[in-house]
Amino acid sequence: MVTRAEKENFLKQKAVVIWLTGLSGAGKTTLASGLEKTLFKNGYLTKILDGDQLRSGINANLGFADQDRQENIRRVAEISRLFIECGVICIDSFISPTTLMRQTAKQIIGNENFIEIYLKASLEVCEKRDPKGLYKSARKGEIRNFTGIGSPYEVPVNPDLVIDTDKYSIEECLEICYNAIFPRIRKH
Ligand code: ADX
Repeated sequence: MVTRAEKENFLKQKAVVIWLTGLSGAGKTTLASGLEKTLFKNGYLTKILDGDQLRSGINANLGFADQDRQENIRRVAEISRLFIECGVICIDSFISPTTLMRQTAKQIIGNENFIEIYLKASLEVCEKRDPKGLYKSARKGEIRNFTGIGSPYEVPVNPDLVIDTDKYSIEECLEICYNAIFPRIRKH
């Protein structure tokens, strides 16, 4: 059997899960793709797992009721574990709105492998950005259980990092994030 440590050595990196949580429109997908590009340029292999992407495939049978979201996050955490066992850095971009969901993910993935990053942007700002027009639909009552409107978002209590995406540019957010995770992925 080839061990995780041997695979990490092969890839010259430490595998972790970078867990991005925040409201829809807070910048998770944008930051995830920027981070992946920057890491790739610097020789790191990553896999992005994203809410919209997974919900069209492996999680297509799940909706947005609390227990479906919980199951969504559980599966994502299990998949992430498979990637890090292979030495690959995972960038997970999920609203993951409750403390319990994030705790579940952390438990499955393992404390030492889990970096929780809260992308902080006010509901007003996210609603103004509304890149997919979903807030508009939610306000019209066309989407029930929309996070921030019909369904709660619990602010992370003790994340590893908070990035104010309504204060900084995308490039600045990326830099803050990269600097914070770099010591955790670098092979000494
Ligand atoms: S989570 O709550 O289970 O973590 P996830 O990140 O997978 O959510 O999916 C969020 C994406 O699903 C949003 O970016 C949005 O495009 C879409 N979506 C559709 N309905 C909802 C809803 N009711 N609440 C939040 N997001 C929704």
